[in-house]
Amino acid sequence: MMKRTLKTMVLLSMMIAFTGNLALAGSERDPLKPRVPKAERGTAKKMKSPFGDLDEAPAEIVAEGKKIFEGKGTCVNCHGKDGDGQGPAGKVLNPGPRDFTNCKFHKRRKDGELMWVVMNGSPGTGMVSMIPATISEEEGWKVLAYERSFCKK
Ligand code: HEC
Repeated sequence: MMKRTLKTMVLLSMMIAFTGNLALAGSERDPLKPRVPKAERGTAKKMKSPFGDLDEAPAEIVAEGKKIFEGKGTCVNCHGKDGDGQGPAGKVLNPGPRDFTNCKFHKRRKDGELMWVVMNGSPGTGMVSMIPATISEEEGWKVLAYERSFCKK
């Protein structure tokens, strides 16, 4: 009797753990919490794009960023064509990719903090360093200008 109860309990907790993981796959982890480690955050916040505030980047820059996002940058695979984090590869990641349509997220981050993550990745997640292996620093700023544009104010 005791043995059976124990078995049922183990099975039940395994099921809960499993469905818990399923629910988390593809969904973000606290998008408003900073990703840059505290020791580097001050310096990261001061990094600026060569063309000023990403929010106000010229349309040609944003258009070039779109090409990088959907092309050589491979960002689209995880972040999705609409920037909502629902790309085919992103759906299976835990934590899920950032949803760039979330204006609250953009408001919370300085341009340089985004750049830090594109350079260094977000440790322990599917977001790995993209510079210089995949794209150049200049291309990084352009693709970030495009990612900023997913927030429609
Ligand atoms: C293999 C999947 C994958 C690819 C490809 C990918 N990302 Fe990500 N990205 C993620 C995940 C997962 C997160 C969420 C990480 C976290 O929660 O800390 C993320 C988060 C981010 C963030 C948010 C950082 C923050 O401060 O919260 C930025 C910016 C970003 N990615 C930019 C890019 C750019 C630019 C590219 C293409 C050059 C790219 N990503 C390609 C998976 C990906």
